[in-house]
Amino acid sequence: MDALPACGVIGPGRLGRTLALALHERGCLRWLKGRSPGSAEWARRHGIPYVLEWQQLEPVEVVWLTVPDRALAELAGECARAGMPWIARSVVVHCAGAFGVEPLNACAEVGAETAVAHPFQTFPLPAQPQRLHCCPWSIEARTPKAARVLAELVRALEGIPVFVQRSPQQRALYHAAAVAASNLLVAVLKLAEELARGSGIPPTLFLEPIVRASVENYFAAVGAIPLTGPVVRADWETLRRHWEALPEPLRAPYRHALLLLAEVARSEGLLSEAQQRELHSLLGVV
Ligand SMILES: NC(=O)c1ccc[n+]([C@@H]2O[C@H](COP(=O)([O-])OP(=O)(O)OC[C@H]3O[C@@H](n4cnc5c(N)ncnc54)[C@H](OP(=O)(O)O)[C@@H]3O)[C@@H](O)[C@H]2O)c1
Repeated sequence: MDALPACGVIGPGRLGRTLALALHERGCLRWLKGRSPGSAEWARRHGIPYVLEWQQLEPVEVVWLTVPDRALAELAGECARAGMPWIARSVVVHCAGAFGVEPLNACAEVGAETAVAHPFQTFPLPAQPQRLHCCPWSIEARTPKAARVLAELVRALEGIPVFVQRSPQQRALYHAAAVAASNLLVAVLKLAEELARGSGIPPTLFLEPIVRASVENYFAAVGAIPLTGPVVRADWETLRRHWEALPEPLRAPYRHALLLLAEVARSEGLLSEAQQRELHSLLGVV
């Protein structure tokens, strides 16, 4: 088997560390560039070559920029000005799902091939490279070489490369879908945990089975969405009791979540317009 393209990663955060570990396991990570002693210590513990200075970067075929979306254009400019002639022969890629290649224009202007490769997965810390297994990646590449190299790397990471050409609006919706599927779900789970604590039950014992069942039912459902509970039963007295018992700080989040649920139930034909209005009035929504 041919060797994988040599990679460097700039930005040792949540995704950067995950990617660095996964590429290191496959023998194709040459360096991870960061700017803090904390990241240097993490890299040392994992046997990952860590670099602080631009002048120390050895040439690589693929440079991954894994910094916050807002820092991409500035970092691409730094890369282009850092005096690394080899960058003109490399692929520079970012992983921000809501953006096209434009933030990397400064690198393209000095000859680099630019691309976006976004893993549709959530990567909190500590880094878990196994989360890349079976992960779908959206790839937007400006050139065939960039597309080929990234597909090869994604497959080596046991991911699924999906080539896309999206409008700015489609990119934004695509990324909002990822946020809804991961971050919003976590926010609702946190709300459930706080409510459970207030009731005196041990949250982990009680929450895990019902959460797993809800997610499994959702993906197993054919046709009808598997909703249960007082909203689709229009059990307003039950919901009034919830509402009155809620501590003040949890009222707004619970109201937002119920309004979303009512929208879903309504669009699925499980709640009539009149029932939706009754719920709104119970929640004090005018
Ligand atoms: N995390 C995910 O679940 C996930 C999933 C898919 C895609 N992504 C994409 O991956 C990228 C990184 O996200 P993340 O969640 O990993 O971010 P993060 O955890 O906040 O990490 C960002 C890293 O970038 C470094 N950094 C920040 N500004 C920098 C700059 N100007 N120059 C150099 N380094 C800089 C930070 O270093 P310091 O520690 O020194 O500040 C930190 O190591 C984003 O484009 C995001 O959209 C993330």
